[in-house]
Amino acid sequence: MGVDGKSVAAAARFREQSFAMEDRPSFTAETVALQRAFESARPPGQRLFSDPYAVAFLRPALRVLAAAARVPLLRGPAVGLYDAVAGPGPRPSAVARTRAIDDEVADAMASCGQCVLLGAGFDTRAHRLPALAGCAVLEVDHPATQAAKRAVVDRLELRRGLLTYVPVDFEVDDLASALRGAGFDSAVPAVFVWEGVTNYLTAAAVDTTLATIRELSAPGSTLVVTYVHAGVLDGSAEFPEAERWVHNVQRAGEPWTFGLEPSEVPAFLRARGFELVVDVSTRDADRGRFAALGRRERGSDLYHVAVAEAG
Ligand SMILES: C[S@@+](CC[C@H](N)C(=O)[O-])C[C@H]1O[C@@H](n2cnc3c(N)ncnc32)[C@H](O)[C@@H]1O
Repeated sequence: MGVDGKSVAAAARFREQSFAMEDRPSFTAETVALQRAFESARPPGQRLFSDPYAVAFLRPALRVLAAAARVPLLRGPAVGLYDAVAGPGPRPSAVARTRAIDDEVADAMASCGQCVLLGAGFDTRAHRLPALAGCAVLEVDHPATQAAKRAVVDRLELRRGLLTYVPVDFEVDDLASALRGAGFDSAVPAVFVWEGVTNYLTAAAVDTTLATIRELSAPGSTLVVTYVHAGVLDGSAEFPEAERWVHNVQRAGEPWTFGLEPSEVPAFLRARGFELVVDVSTRDADRGRFAALGRRERGSDLYHVAVAEAG
C-alpha cells in the first residue's frame, strides 16, 4: 500500500503540528463550509445542493466573501478570488463530493437506521437532509472543532432530537467505547460517513478507525469514505491542482498525511473487512451535473469518494 513509505515523513510533520490542532477548531473544516456557502449562494436551478447553515460557521472575513457571492454581480469576483488563491481544484471537488455523499446517504438510509458522521466538521447534513430526519445521527469530531460547531448550532437554535455529539480524537481515543457510550446500536445497520478526514490522519489512526467501524457494523451497514491519491503526498503522481492544494493545507497547519493508490483500494478495504462498491474521483462524482447546468467547474482526479460495505 502506497501509504507506508509516503506516510513516514508526513507523520513526522503531523506530530509536529498536531499540538496546534488540539487547541483550535479545524481551519480546513471552515474552508469546506465556505465552499458550501459559495455553492448555496447560487440560485436554486444552478446549484448542486443548498446548505443554508454553512455561512454561520465562517469567521467575519470569510462571511463577507460568502455574502458577496449572494449578489449576482459580485458572485463571479468573490468565487474567482477564492479560486485564485486556492487553485482550481478544491472548491469544485468539495461541491461534487458533497452532492455525491448527500445522494449516497439518502440511498443508504433506505435500509439503515442510524448515521455516523466521522470528523463531521461543519457538515450540516443532520439538519438539512430529509433522509436523516427522525433517525439517530452521531457526529464524531475532534473536541476543538466540535466545541466550535456546537456554539454555532446553539446560537442558531438548530437543536433536533436524536443528534448526539461524540468528541473523539482518532489518533488517541477509543472510538468504539465513545460511540457505544453515546448510544450507537451495533445491532442496527448504519451509514458511516468519513468525508475529508483520512488525509489528515496517520495510517495507524485510519486502520484503527476502520477496525472500529467494521466491529460496530451490523449487516447492511455502509461506509462512505474519501481519500486523496497517495501520489500527491510525495509528488510521484502529477495533478495540475496538487501543488497549490498541498501547500495551502500545509500552511493552514493541517498537512495531508495519508493517501491511497486508487488501484489498491479494493484490496486495502478487503484486508480490513470491507467490500468496495464504488470508487469515483470527485471529477467523475458530479455525474455531469456541472456540465448540465452550463458550468465549467470540474472536481479533481486526486480526490476520491469510495463506498464500501462491511463484508
Ligand atoms: C476538512 S475537515 C472535513 C469536515 C467534514 N467532514 C466536511 O466534509 O465538511 C477535516 C475534519 O477532520 C477532523 N479531524 C482531523 N484530525 C482529527 C483527529 N485526529 N480526530 C478527530 N477529528 C479529526 C477535523 O476536526 C475536521 O472536522
